Amino acid sequence: MFEELELLPPDPILGLMAAHRNDPNPDKIDLGVGVYKDEQGNTPVLRSVKRAEEIILSEENTKSYIAPTGHPEFNQGVQQLLLGVSHPAYKDNRIATIQSPGGCGALRLGADFALRCNPEATVWVSDPTWANHIPLLGSAGLKLAKYPYYDATTHQILFDQMVETLKQVKKGDLVLLHGCCHNPCGADLTEEQWQVVATMAEQQGFVPYIDIAYQGFGLGLDQDAYGVRLMAERLPEVIIASSCSKNFGIYRERVGALNIVGANQHSAEACASQAANIARGIYSMPPSHGAAAVGLVLNNEKLRADWNVELTEMRDRINALRTQLVEKLESNNAPQDFSFIARQRGMFSFLGVTPEQVQRLRKEYSVYMVDSSRISIAGINSGNIDYLAESVVAVL
Ligand code: LMR
Repeated sequence: MFEELELLPPDPILGLMAAHRNDPNPDKIDLGVGVYKDEQGNTPVLRSVKRAEEIILSEENTKSYIAPTGHPEFNQGVQQLLLGVSHPAYKDNRIATIQSPGGCGALRLGADFALRCNPEATVWVSDPTWANHIPLLGSAGLKLAKYPYYDATTHQILFDQMVETLKQVKKGDLVLLHGCCHNPCGADLTEEQWQVVATMAEQQGFVPYIDIAYQGFGLGLDQDAYGVRLMAERLPEVIIASSCSKNFGIYRERVGALNIVGANQHSAEACASQAANIARGIYSMPPSHGAAAVGLVLNNEKLRADWNVELTEMRDRINALRTQLVEKLESNNAPQDFSFIARQRGMFSFLGVTPEQVQRLRKEYSVYMVDSSRISIAGINSGNIDYLAESVVAVL
């Protein structure tokens, strides 16, 4: 039965980690996978998370299962983070949360949930979108369609074209939106643009499916949740897949949540029960440790304040690196304008070079980025930024 199967090539994003690790060049730079790195190139465990883990390990007295929907204090903390405590959907208990194995687990669960509501549903995704959205949503059985989003030549959002295309979206279909820090392009909708999409959803009856994996990495925790909060206020139904991988630096522990906003509390609870039932048929229930740590950080005043400081440090570092990279490219006489990088937000931007130039950067300079020229900004530091700028200019 297995003999016909072919060996697959490595994942286009995750495979870069191994390729970089195996490269003996001491000047090598990893701008591949979206994992935050500090000035020393490390991805440390956040102090606040470490402290929460210590408390959990010392106080934990059972390894019995947690609830199928996850840790209640984690779920509540996530809702507060996404909506804020004064949001009407939060106050009216119109949001239900199911802890999931990472943001990917939430996305997949959300796809299965949408199919249970509407077996004919199409999900419209931005062009471009995160490469893994396609298998995550498509394997569940959702039909996929694209809307234009970003022009890699002008480095602008194609908002008019996006709106024109979204006019075709039918009631009961989904539109996948990146809550903030668009992966891969770093270009986010403005508040006015979010309003336009919300009005379209109201009028056409489609459901926004928001993937928010980088809250706090763009402008700040509240600003980054603008779109999520707007949709949850204006619309009766919204699906939100959230991830704690990046903003809590807790990647390998797989901490995420599927959040479903319903028309009222009864509907939200029914949705959660359906989602938990779907999860039971896939992985049964979520793991405990990572979400317990995040739940503790969110519910403990001191740990939460400490986490906020750490998150701000990560965000400020990324935003500063964006500006520095633009300056370095300019001072190396780059024949192209890269100023758009400083205007974009989050972990990623497209450098905007050709696939051949990406290959040369990898082979000749040991600079690793995704084939699309997506770079993970946090891989830059003061020790490698000059070499990076010189290498990029050399291949242009
Ligand atoms: C990325 O886009 O690099 C991250 O979200 C990690 C991943 O799983 O691809």
